[in-house]
Amino acid sequence: MGSYHITVLKGDGIGPDVVTEAMGVLECVGKKYGHDFVFNEKLAGGCAYDAYGEPLPEETLEACKNGDAILLGAVGGPKWDHLPANLRPEAGALLKLRSSLGLYANLRPAIIHKALSDASPIKPEIIGDSLDILVVRELTGGIYFGERGYREGKHGEEAYDVEAYSEFEIKRIAVQAFEAAMKRNKHVTSIDKANVLESSKLWRRTVTEVAKDYPEVELDHMYVDNAAMQLVRNPKHFDVIVTSNIFGDIISDEASQITGSIGMLPSASLADGAFGMYEPIHGSAPDIAGQDKANPIATILSVAMMFRYSFQKPDEAAAIERAVDAVLAEGWRTPDIAGPGDVPIGTKKMGQLIREHI
Ligand code: IPM
Ligand code: MG
Repeated sequence: MGSYHITVLKGDGIGPDVVTEAMGVLECVGKKYGHDFVFNEKLAGGCAYDAYGEPLPEETLEACKNGDAILLGAVGGPKWDHLPANLRPEAGALLKLRSSLGLYANLRPAIIHKALSDASPIKPEIIGDSLDILVVRELTGGIYFGERGYREGKHGEEAYDVEAYSEFEIKRIAVQAFEAAMKRNKHVTSIDKANVLESSKLWRRTVTEVAKDYPEVELDHMYVDNAAMQLVRNPKHFDVIVTSNIFGDIISDEASQITGSIGMLPSASLADGAFGMYEPIHGSAPDIAGQDKANPIATILSVAMMFRYSFQKPDEAAAIERAVDAVLAEGWRTPDIAGPGDVPIGTKKMGQLIREHI
């Protein structure tokens, strides 16, 4: 039994479509397992800019700080692309939420569901019928938040962005990765560019130091260029990947594409303690917004992560994941994951089927 306050940021584009289904799943799990959810809906992203002239109003940030967890749909769209960086939904809302709430650990699982194994663009003899990689991306440091600006250079104006990491920041993300690995296949691959970058040398040294506390976990280090290659050459090498903000941004997109179905992938952004923000990996897909075409599974699986990481309710999380697998095994598909012979179903129907299975 528990009562949870969830700040809901539906955001832009298909955000409202998919979050509505995920809220239905929360309520359904609540009924079955005896939990109560109080939803506090606020505006963030382009919709907030339209209403208040800023992508992350103070009221939204306050609500986020006061809740137990955040459920986010997606932010952004071409309508707001012309705005200066600090007013754009991506930097003005998403990056500000991450930094203001201390959400430094970004967990991005890239999983191939058995029923969808032929969706991967990688040859079957390489991928087999399953893949399960967890990317642990540092989310509040590095070049995303470093010193930046313009200055007069030798050849006129130049722009710069600084990649800086403290031992403290590296250590705490490494601990998250090793802890996750202990519950999985006990293998961490740390990705850096230590053959060139000072920040990566400190990264490698610090991760190696943290590894001493986890003698059961095998640690290997990989340069980011090689890792990009190994991910498509031999994806089964990887269990847990830990890496910096910018490398994690790139590598997690690559890992998600290997699964072939970005509409399926959830994510969690965690602070110290139990607080977290949960969102699908995909974007706001404005071209199909409000048309009952979006795949709600990534957001629904994000709710499963919420149960696991913020509420410490693994049974509830597993119930959601089982329901998703069952619906896929029965052959139900939204347009994004439909094969040639499939008759696709809509967002709402997919949500309803998953709830029925729970
Ligand atoms: C992501 C996105 C964001 C990032 C953008 C929208 C700022 O690409 O969450 O991976 O770069 O972190
Ligand atoms: Mg990205």
